[in-house]
Amino acid sequence: MTNPTLWRQEVTKLEAYVPGKSIEEVKKQYGLSEITRLASNENPYGPSPKAIAAMNAAAADSHLYPEPTSAELRSKLGELYGVDPSQILVSNGADNVLMLIGQAYVNPGDEVVYCVPTFSVYRTSTVVMGGVPVEIPLTADYKFNLEAMLAAVTDKTKLLYVCNPNNPTGTIVESAELEAFLKKVPPHVVVVLDEAYGEFIDVEGYKTGAEYVREGYPVISVHTFSKLYGLAALRVGYAIATPEVLAPVLAVREPFPVSRMANSAALASLDDVEYRDFILSTNREGLRYLGNELGRMGVGVTPSYSNFLFADLHRDAAPVVEALLRAGYIVRPCKAWGYPEHIRITVGSPEQNRGFVAALERILGA
Ligand SMILES: Cc1ncc(COP(=O)(O)O)c(C=O)c1O
Repeated sequence: MTNPTLWRQEVTKLEAYVPGKSIEEVKKQYGLSEITRLASNENPYGPSPKAIAAMNAAAADSHLYPEPTSAELRSKLGELYGVDPSQILVSNGADNVLMLIGQAYVNPGDEVVYCVPTFSVYRTSTVVMGGVPVEIPLTADYKFNLEAMLAAVTDKTKLLYVCNPNNPTGTIVESAELEAFLKKVPPHVVVVLDEAYGEFIDVEGYKTGAEYVREGYPVISVHTFSKLYGLAALRVGYAIATPEVLAPVLAVREPFPVSRMANSAALASLDDVEYRDFILSTNREGLRYLGNELGRMGVGVTPSYSNFLFADLHRDAAPVVEALLRAGYIVRPCKAWGYPEHIRITVGSPEQNRGFVAALERILGA
């Protein structure tokens, strides 16, 4: 029996994270042998073969603690982003990085501003520390409303989160708008730019978080190896920030958060440029294909800069999601985000995308 009177008060305000349905769960529930999961924004091709080889090679040393700060990985990331390795923190997935940012910055009563719907961990990492989430609706075109966020800043504001591209809508804020926003953020506030899907942004000249860090803005740019690099099960995420901004986050980081296998796989992934480019180009093509096909079926599609689509079915999505499950396709219903007629669809391989389109067309036509 749980006894909430024993719990820390802040924890009673939280609920356990509800992930997308697992492949195992759906196989069992619907008696299916083939399942395609387009629900968790995973890479449909898996890790680079070089990453798998590196993981295998590292497995034999699993009795030895990993190198504690992921020094080699930080050095390689430093080269990639043009920052000193001391400006990078590597940890156990971007989720963990976001929780560390809350631990490092949020005092009880501090306000943390972001738009909704967005990634749920911003709320968790705030509430667990006794902070106050200040949730602002997205714009009508499902983008972060930077103007309204600035207007919500008070003396108590500590963090501003910008999820860019935003999960679940796939939208980004214009570079010029983001830069103008950063210029107006007062000195007692730190901006967290969650760029978990940042590599998928395909806009000429688009400025990313590391560039703002290089220019000295109080920005923490958060990244992951879970999406583009297909290492979701290994849990590797990282943050880039100026030394002053990163210092408290480093202070709360656990001693050995990244396993040897994860470190090795992440390093090898960065080397496999050919594989990364293949993933980016098939994603681009998949977004285009799915966008066109869904449009043809009368589904509303928000332009996406990520590896997923926010799709408006213009009807209750629950029965459609259920029928898709029966057909072997898992997508993410958006009811929990306040959008009962939307689903979030991860871009799959061309074959998965075609199968999904055929299944959805059958279901919508029925
Ligand atoms: C916006 C956003 N940030 C962070 C994460 C967490 O990534 P990780 O797998 O590295 O914990 C996710 C995962 O879905 C995400 O969508």
